[in-house]
Parts: sequence; C-alpha cells; structure tokens
Amino acid sequence: MSDPSRPNGPKIIAVANQKGGVGKTTTAINLAAALVKEGLRVLVVDLDPQGNASTGLGIDPEARGYTTYDLILGDIDLHEVIQTTEFEGLWISPATVDLSSADIEMVANEKRSFLLHDSLRQHAIDDFKFDFILIDCPPSLSLLTVNAMVAAESVLVPLQSEFFALEGLSQLMLTVREVRQTANSNLRIEGIVLTMYDQRNNLSRQVEQDARENLGDLVFNTVIPRNVRISEAPSFALPVLDYDPHSKGALAYQALAKEVIAKKGR
Ligand SMILES: Nc1ncnc2c1ncn2[C@@H]1O[C@H](COP(=O)(O)OP(=O)(O)OP(=O)(O)O)[C@@H](O)[C@H]1O
Ligand SMILES: [Mg+2]
Repeated sequence: MSDPSRPNGPKIIAVANQKGGVGKTTTAINLAAALVKEGLRVLVVDLDPQGNASTGLGIDPEARGYTTYDLILGDIDLHEVIQTTEFEGLWISPATVDLSSADIEMVANEKRSFLLHDSLRQHAIDDFKFDFILIDCPPSLSLLTVNAMVAAESVLVPLQSEFFALEGLSQLMLTVREVRQTANSNLRIEGIVLTMYDQRNNLSRQVEQDARENLGDLVFNTVIPRNVRISEAPSFALPVLDYDPHSKGALAYQALAKEVIAKKGR
C-alpha cells in the first residue's frame, strides 16, 4: 500500500543490506531503469558516501553540485538537489563523500531519524510526479540506513547467493522491526531478491532453496543471475538495460520491475 497520508505520492523503497558488495547499488540503478522503461517516473536517492549510484548513472563527481547531504542536512531547494539523468524519466539525488559526515552531524538533531523522511515529503516533491523513489543505502545499519527505513514504505533486500547470506539477514530484520516499533509502523519488506545467482553452482541453488523455505513469499520469483554485462555497464555509466538490453541481466531486472509494479498499491 502507498503511504496512507499521501495516496497519490510516490512509493518509496529503501534498497538495503548492511553487508557490502551484495548488489544494492546495481539493483537500485537497474531496477530504476527498468521501471522507467515501463513508462514510470523514478528518483534514485544515492544515500551512500561512496556515490556509486551517481557514478553508475553518469553523474561525474564535479557535476554533483548539491547532494543528498544537502537534502538531509541543508536548507536547499529540492529542485537544486534533484538532477535529471541522461535517461528520460529517471532523476537522481547524487552523493559524494560529504555524506560520510552526515551520521555524526545528524546525531545532534532531535529529528535525526526523520530527516530524509521530511525532505522527501516536502510539497516540492509533488512537482516531479514520481511513481517510485529508490534509496540506495550504504553497507551499514547506520543512522543513514535508519533514515532510509523511516522514509520508506518498504525495504528491498538484495541477497547475494553465497554462504552466510542468510545470517546477516536476521540483523537487518531486527533493525526493520525496531524502526517499525519506533518510527514507521507501516514499514514492510518489499521483498528479498537473490543476486549474482549462478545456476550451475550448487551453493547458489542451496541459498535459493533455504531462502524460499525460510522466507516464503518474501523472496521475489525473479533471481538476478551473475552476468558480466551487469558488472560492465557502470563503467560505461549505463544501466544494463541500455548497455545490453538483451542480456540475461537486463531481462532479469525487467522481470523484477514487473514484480515490484504488481505489488504497488496492494
Ligand atoms: N548480477 C551481477 N552479476 C555480476 N556482477 C554483479 C552483479 N551484481 C553486482 N555485481 C558486481 O558486484 C559488485 C558489487 O555490487 P554493488 O556495488 O551493486 O553492491 P553494493 O551492495 O551496492 O556494494 P556496497 O555495499 O559497497 O554499496 C560490483 O562490482 C557489481 O558490478
Ligand atoms: Mg552500493
């Protein structure tokens, strides 16, 4: 269900997993691009000081101007932070390393967990008529990630198809529960998507089986294969759908987008 207080507002999804390198940014960029291909208007909020989503969508560091840092902590007009990308229908709130000090600066603020929530609910956001906002979280359960969970309606969890993948998930789920109890009772799990899946690898298949047995419907039907085109695309500043539209990676993200659209408004 959309935000009950804003029935026509965008659906905000935090892409989160405190484990590094599991495919958060890849999923945020490519799911966003796939939603855009379905005719939707999408904002990617780069909430990671690494700025990988900004780079992957072709925003050079010197072109980042105002960033997500200003969105959260500054008094900057939303229209100055949110940039268009080369892809029609896709916008970004870029990030730079500046964001690494945000955690510390936010602590002193009594609204510290709600800063991103409040920024994304300014009236000015309505001008953009976004259908979806995807937040690319950093690899931690820091205050930045908590801000994403408070701002969002749901959390989409990329799960790398490897040993120990499920262990980190319980910690993430605890944080989701905490946020639900304290700041955002509507927060749901959008779904768990298996990433870097290798069909020929027993371990991948085992992780998938365990995930489906333990988490049931929370696991998306779509699995994202390990696909070299996906890993090459960011160095050309392109989503895989534009880099190689017929690759297995592109098709998988299109299928994931269809599942996400089907869940919207449910
Ligand atoms: N399906 C895939 N097939 C092949 N390579 C992939 C795939 N998904 C991600 N990668 C590669 O794995 C690496 C990590 O992916 P990504 O940056 O998306 O992870 P992340 O969770 O955002 O990392 P971080 O925690 O550092 O933010 C990248 O080099 C990316 O290109
Ligand atoms: Mg990342």
